[in-house]
Amino acid sequence: MGNFKVEKTKNSRRMMRTKVIAGNWKMNNDINGTIELISGIKSILAGKKIDAKLIVCPPFTSLETAKELLKGSDVGLGAQNMYFEENGAFTGEISAAMLKSVGCEYVILGHSERRTIFGETDELINKKVKKALDSQLKPIFCIGETLEERESGTTFDVIKRQIQAGLSGLSDSDMKAVIIAYEPVWAIGTGKVASPAQAQEVHAFIRSELVKLFGAVSAENTVIQYGGSVKPDNARELLGQPDIDGALVGGACLKAESFVGIAE
Ligand code: 13P
Repeated sequence: MGNFKVEKTKNSRRMMRTKVIAGNWKMNNDINGTIELISGIKSILAGKKIDAKLIVCPPFTSLETAKELLKGSDVGLGAQNMYFEENGAFTGEISAAMLKSVGCEYVILGHSERRTIFGETDELINKKVKKALDSQLKPIFCIGETLEERESGTTFDVIKRQIQAGLSGLSDSDMKAVIIAYEPVWAIGTGKVASPAQAQEVHAFIRSELVKLFGAVSAENTVIQYGGSVKPDNARELLGQPDIDGALVGGACLKAESFVGIAE
């Protein structure tokens, strides 16, 4: 598609971004499954030094259990969604304060399953991103094109719109707490992973858009994860690309060995 290089200003030196590997459990694992998976992750990690930040994002019902199990570990805790209102008559919704109270530091927002199955719009996601930041939760803000959009050549337009609308009203200082996850919808749960070159191309484009919106320093420091059929055997090459700073993992995060294997 295009060749997007992030122009560096005189003062912006390339920061070493820490790789961030987050596991999106989706609608999987009850309490027993949660205990088993987190215990498994902890036992594999014991005595190992991993050069990446690991985050688990279990369903709401498992967050409290996960928080207790993760006490004293470096693995971070995130939720998979939240609503932007403070409290009140919003049946079935969960607030940012509720997530904070069960120990969440991160929250996935704008996942393509929320956008496509539950009809979430860019505007709604933007409200959630702002509320998360106001509440000291770090958003893992998801974007990505469908197969149809890719095939019709509108990938960059879609990504640009999702970034501009989803991050509207944020400052460069807000961006310090934001992680972006690029997840091409056609690669999610399909086993059809984007090639490292395909992913890198979009990641570089995302960073070039961030330069325009928030400046070069902020863009250089923003972690941009790739998501979509990431597994231990394709992680190394994907994560070796200059603008790919981690992974948002679905299927492969449900087994402790493969989740930690991706980070290793
Ligand atoms: P898979 O890793 O199962 O393709 O899912 C990716 C994803 O949607 C993570 O949020």
